[in-house]
Amino acid sequence: MIRYLSILLLGMSAAAALAQPADPDERARATESRMTDAERIQLLHGIMALPIPGMPPVPDGVKFSAGYIAGIPRLGVPDLRETDAGLGVANPLGMRAGDVATAMPSGQALAAAFDPELAFQGGETIGREARAKGFNVLLGGGVNLARDYRNGRNFEYLGEDPLLAGTLAGEEIRGTQSTHVISTIKHFALNGQETSRHTGDARIEEAALRESDLLAFELAIARGQPGSVMCAYNHVNGPAACGNHHLLTDVLKQDWFYRGWVMSDWGAVGGTDFITAGLDQQSGEQIDGKPWFGALLADELKAGHVPRERVSDAVRRILRSVYAIGADQPAAAETLDYEADAKVAQRVAEEGAVLLKNDGILPIAPSVKSILVVGGHADRGVLSGGGSSQVIPVGGPALMTPVGGPGPFGMFMRQVYLPSSPLAALKAALPGVKVEFDSGYAPSAAAATAKHYDLVVLFATQWQSEGVDGDGLALPEGQDALISAVVQANPRTVVVLETGNPVGMPWLGKVGGVLEAWYPGQKGGEAIADLLTGKVNPSGRLPQSFPATEGQAPRPVLPGLGESDEKPVAIPYDEGAAVGYRWFAAQKQKPLFPFGHGLSYTSFTHGALAIDPAGKARVSVTNKGARAGADTLQLYLVDAAGQKTQRLVAFRRVTLEPGETRDIELSAEPKLLADWGSQGWMRKTGRYGFALGDTAAQLGPVVTVELGADQPK
Ligand code: BGC
Repeated sequence: MIRYLSILLLGMSAAAALAQPADPDERARATESRMTDAERIQLLHGIMALPIPGMPPVPDGVKFSAGYIAGIPRLGVPDLRETDAGLGVANPLGMRAGDVATAMPSGQALAAAFDPELAFQGGETIGREARAKGFNVLLGGGVNLARDYRNGRNFEYLGEDPLLAGTLAGEEIRGTQSTHVISTIKHFALNGQETSRHTGDARIEEAALRESDLLAFELAIARGQPGSVMCAYNHVNGPAACGNHHLLTDVLKQDWFYRGWVMSDWGAVGGTDFITAGLDQQSGEQIDGKPWFGALLADELKAGHVPRERVSDAVRRILRSVYAIGADQPAAAETLDYEADAKVAQRVAEEGAVLLKNDGILPIAPSVKSILVVGGHADRGVLSGGGSSQVIPVGGPALMTPVGGPGPFGMFMRQVYLPSSPLAALKAALPGVKVEFDSGYAPSAAAATAKHYDLVVLFATQWQSEGVDGDGLALPEGQDALISAVVQANPRTVVVLETGNPVGMPWLGKVGGVLEAWYPGQKGGEAIADLLTGKVNPSGRLPQSFPATEGQAPRPVLPGLGESDEKPVAIPYDEGAAVGYRWFAAQKQKPLFPFGHGLSYTSFTHGALAIDPAGKARVSVTNKGARAGADTLQLYLVDAAGQKTQRLVAFRRVTLEPGETRDIELSAEPKLLADWGSQGWMRKTGRYGFALGDTAAQLGPVVTVELGADQPK
């Protein structure tokens, strides 16, 4: 039954403001049925809303941003005003003069917190800022699995595990959409490296794909119900992701019953026929070969070469998301409280920083009277990742270094430091302690100076960006040599890493401690100071394995490296679903630091694990130390009805006061207890073995339980 409500929409003509169905699908159907073909086509393509030489100007009144699709005022259909992305509201090349936003820490930091509630809050913060700035579509969150430790965009994503990434992405999306801003899950799918980013063909077997990258999308979509999905640049088993009938239609729309729309990545459309594969909207059309989904699609529709129902369906999907999420509701004038939003960013940085090593050098003891801070531009701020997700932070960049590169993307390649100086924060946190800075530019001078201090805190950075992959496990610009020289002079050295990917740490055995702070965002300096001084107890866990050697990776050399951007390149994902820690387990290789690893200033013990016949796990956890802290329970499936495996099937972050014990229940994700096969998800009857892990490489006793057959939907 169709329910009707009367709504008056701002800027809508009286005719359009008549009775409207409340159900978003019904409402979409009603609006679409009243459209002309020209109006339908209008919704199916949009521009990159930036001045591009040789292209028509951005329409008057449209803010510079990633994308714009003109609405239809006579029907109350709003403009789609799109902004990047998952780490805050971007301002491409700073073209919206003076417009800043809260820069959130990298996706890896958020993932390392293992905290769904925090992911919701992060998504909500970005959504609220986007809406106040006049946007109603956010081009985040990214959920591609970190299959390659060199992928230049891993910092935008949520690590290597489908359950962790899918859960957190789903919560981020829910948070964003709670502000009436449509969230876009991306990049669908297998956008695992930047090398050959348009021509790489991800080759993988179907079951492995369903159980890994697609599972992350499936879980996130079910949980977050994003209004849109962005298909990727790369190809998947042949066809381009944006023209991939299997991915877009068979999997996404049919198997998963996805009801929103699929937008292309910017410059990822190869023809009007992509609409029949399941693509609904062409984005950033100036940077595609042709504006396919404009006049060309209109001609095809007229000539009967494109099914009319497919065009109507594409339009209805867009409208449905607009209505379901309320993206057409006028935004109330809102003044943003950047101080409050910065607290969310700081919480992510604090919960997400991972204490990788500690010889007892941290937290900084009261006996420490002098500290030399070295390197990483720590006197100025903290590093952020580059590309379309780049945020111009509140307060403006502390430092901006153009890196450059070929083509128009070269302009986007700049290293941006956010205005949150760890040096200043350490000085503020440690009154009475002499805290001084050495840039690290001259390693021997830095080492000679370091001898005179009680403690050295050395900042090492690794800039990663969309458009280029990382170079391997070495820190860039001679920083490994700097660290070795300094620690040789003063072994009381702590290294703070600001990296977008794992690094190799040849100096690891010599330093007293290592804190992985990722790209720690708007208040990164303060967060790092709080963690080093013990005001905050470190609690992050690695969401991505750190390889010990480059040779441990499934592909020691990046496919396509050195090839021209036009050359088709096969990317064999022969590891299948054994991504990250599952690869290390299958290969019986020891990483430098495993997935799930992270130290604390307190310690935890776990009681015996109990599993009931419904697959629910129970365990008690105790904080044995003298400080409050958070433990992250990781439940792994290690035996699936006789098949040896390793899968994270449940996790829970638990905060405990000193001496406190809590009983925790964990529910395994049903799809992770099943395998993908011709019948869909299928769990066999049999004995299933589970173990709690301190990390993916350190598992407790295996507890087995008999489970019946199941076909999780
Ligand atoms: C990126 C997308 C981004 C889009 C719009 C593309 O280059 O791959 O992630 O949302 O640009 O800026």
